[in-house]
Amino acid sequence: MNSNSSTGSPSNVQDLDALVQVLHQQRATMLDDLVQWLKIPSISSDSSKLAEVQAGCQWVTDKLRNAGLDVNVIQTQRHPIVIAHTPPVPGAPVVLVYGHYDVQPVEPLEDWISGPFEPTERDGNLYARGATDDKGQVLTHVQSVCQWLASGQTLPLQIKFIIEGEEEVGSESLEQMLPDLAEQLACDCVVISDSSQYADGQPAITYGLRGIATFELAVSGPNQDLHSGSFGGAVMNPAIALCKMLAGLVDDQGVIQIPGYYDDVQPLSDQQRQQWNDLPNDDASFAAVIGVDELFGETGYSTDERRWARPTFDINGITSGHQGEGVKTIIPAVASAKLSFRLVPNQCPKALSAALRQRLGELAPKGVRWELEDDHGAPGMLADIETPFARAASSAIEAAFDTAPVLIREGGSIPIVARFQQVLDCDCLLLGWGLSDDNTHSPNEKFRIADYYRGIEASARLWHQIAAEHQQG
Ligand code: BES
Ligand code: MN
Ligand code: MN
Repeated sequence: MNSNSSTGSPSNVQDLDALVQVLHQQRATMLDDLVQWLKIPSISSDSSKLAEVQAGCQWVTDKLRNAGLDVNVIQTQRHPIVIAHTPPVPGAPVVLVYGHYDVQPVEPLEDWISGPFEPTERDGNLYARGATDDKGQVLTHVQSVCQWLASGQTLPLQIKFIIEGEEEVGSESLEQMLPDLAEQLACDCVVISDSSQYADGQPAITYGLRGIATFELAVSGPNQDLHSGSFGGAVMNPAIALCKMLAGLVDDQGVIQIPGYYDDVQPLSDQQRQQWNDLPNDDASFAAVIGVDELFGETGYSTDERRWARPTFDINGITSGHQGEGVKTIIPAVASAKLSFRLVPNQCPKALSAALRQRLGELAPKGVRWELEDDHGAPGMLADIETPFARAASSAIEAAFDTAPVLIREGGSIPIVARFQQVLDCDCLLLGWGLSDDNTHSPNEKFRIADYYRGIEASARLWHQIAAEHQQG
């Protein structure tokens, strides 16, 4: 692994140690960068926040441009995409870093201890919407590259970035444009930090994500709200109809009641189940963190199996009738619910849509009309872990976190990842620096500051190690 300074050869270990030193010295500046980015309320689902989403894009565009990368901002029908790259390194691998600068809505505001866009340090954590999902995590890679270039050394491989503003709303623009961007984004491996470690002190490499399909179901009855005394008993109540329909989608054992829903689900091998069983998992503390007396899920599976490798159904929101103070005795005219299904690899979002419609038709009581709006869907994914990229990640993470990573899957979805695998024909590394109690999508989202720094170091070590693995052939 002895190398020299000619183009294309990896930097040597002395150089890397010097860079890791620099990363330590630059901690305060790099934390301030994150604070500045987190102040921008780039909520992609909120149509009144278009300018703020643009500003979120601009911040990272400037950051990459000032570091000397070649940067392009791609306008889309909704929110812009930033694409950047360092100079090509002949004979060395090309890595594409993907992340998102958009964030989820912040309600309920009153539950935040400090404002969602007033980044605040408490107990070694930085609290703000987007801290861990995903500004803090994607910034670890941006920082490692910026600091590497600022140190005057050349990178041992080419790094490209694609940072988008629609991940939290399904990545539709990027999905549409991906074939046209394929040449610009050509790479050997895509690297994504937008997930979590397995536990505090136990970093992980994630080799699978669930997919997702979301819907909105609206049930309507009378042409306006009715007095429940005068009309109760004479008409079907749309809120009751909605409840019956939703309840009919899942049984008491947590098994989803849609014919064919499990047909494409691949059973877990005994070896796979054993490996997950050997992880340091603990249902009691898992339940305690989220504040429930007991966990619930499909009978016959462990918690990790249910979260990572079984499909699920959830109601994300449900609305009908009187929500204000006190009593208002009505039969509401309408009732609606937002639904999401998590899919496992090999399940198809489109097939679910048709089967769900069919099933709702069977469940709908007489006397109401219903409509199902198909929102968006993305398939799940699995990554190959027998790759030089995964080996490099394992040693980079071990060096930065002082613990070797375990292999896990996750239950969340990153809609574009499966498309990257197909269209770019590349390997995929999911390296989550977050923790499961980071409160993603919830009040008081946070990112542990030490993990931000460790992520930056692991990222720098990863670039070094990928090039070294490649040289060793
Ligand atoms: N970073 C998450 C995905 C994630 C969550 C991966 C937990 C691993 C563990 C991402 O930003 C996200 O929230 N995705 C959405 C996608 C949806 C809005 C289309 C999700 O999973 O709900
Ligand atoms: Mn995310
Ligand atoms: Mn998210």
